[in-house]
Amino acid sequence: MDVTEPDLVDDLINALPQLDVCDHGFAKDGDVGKEQENLTDGHQEPRPTPRKELDKLQMPRWYQARRQNLSKRQRAILQDVWPKYGRDYKSLKFGEPIDWDTLFHDCAEATKGLVLDIGFGAGDSILQLAAARPKERFLGAEIYRAGHALVAEACDQQGLRNVRLFGGEATKFLQRYCGDGSFDRVQIYFPDPFPGSETDMNCRLMSANFFAMLAPKLAPGGVLHIASDVGFYVLDVLDHLRAEPNSAFWRVCRIGQSGGPDNSEFSPEAAAAVRHQRTARDDELAAAARMAAVAQDLGLRMGTRPTWRPQTKFETKALHEGRFVWDVEVDYIPAKPLAQG
Ligand SMILES: C[S@@+](CC[C@H](N)C(=O)[O-])C[C@H]1O[C@@H](n2cnc3c(N)ncnc32)[C@H](O)[C@@H]1O
Repeated sequence: MDVTEPDLVDDLINALPQLDVCDHGFAKDGDVGKEQENLTDGHQEPRPTPRKELDKLQMPRWYQARRQNLSKRQRAILQDVWPKYGRDYKSLKFGEPIDWDTLFHDCAEATKGLVLDIGFGAGDSILQLAAARPKERFLGAEIYRAGHALVAEACDQQGLRNVRLFGGEATKFLQRYCGDGSFDRVQIYFPDPFPGSETDMNCRLMSANFFAMLAPKLAPGGVLHIASDVGFYVLDVLDHLRAEPNSAFWRVCRIGQSGGPDNSEFSPEAAAAVRHQRTARDDELAAAARMAAVAQDLGLRMGTRPTWRPQTKFETKALHEGRFVWDVEVDYIPAKPLAQG
């Protein structure tokens, strides 16, 4: 399987459309109907996307260079077990939306909706959720090949039929193979934050372009759920959602906070002595203060983490280190076409 497709990547990055930044924020409860009324006149029938448009994707730059060494065992699992659960570029027809009923053909009992887990990693979340909710279908997209082997093997061992996996980059997967209105829920848990320079941060998955592309893939009323231990990334994500052309249809419905710096362990003197720690802690608190302001502005009470979300190793590490973990859930409520006649 080729997870890099390096021939396409540079062209695609250069072909990125520039977005205008909208000056309005997210929709609030009372606003949604109004926005729909204003915007339904412009509704257009869906049309097939030409290949040259499909190629105008935003690519996280880093993944093209990533080398992934696999053990003999992992390679054997990818060869023998992966095809039962997994698909990759080679097994799909370019630009043709996947028929979900066909993909989940052996799972007739799962009728309650389709969840997309972007960057499922070692599969802690997707596996636990799929086992706990046999009536829902779970689709994972991940570029980490060792993760493909791990999760495919676990699905096989646990006899999970409501899981399917895509081995490749999620942006391209969504754009090329997922029809409009596909997902009831999209979850992005602990995305790579790429802390550091601005150039590093351009490698992040979530941008205004990404959300513009993702929006129509959600079913009306679908939910985007992001969990992260990097407060400033989550704040950036909220800015990107506000800046994308569908921003009026995104409605932040929940902000949850758990963990956080324990003041009793951290005297100001100790903090001053350890510059790095002090900076990290100040950043945490500054992000928390901004997040509280965002919640207040949206008329939301700061909640806690949803108890149903499985705790993965990234969250455990963050909590152990005394850092905050943030959960943000955003509804997507698009304009409806006007009734005919
Ligand atoms: C920090 S890990 C989190 C894994 C998992 N969600 C969890 O909470 O344990 C982020 C994962 O996202 C994957 N990833 C990052 N960008 C991606 C992309 N554009 N498409 C698919 N997977 C991606 C990485 O390979 C990595 O496994």
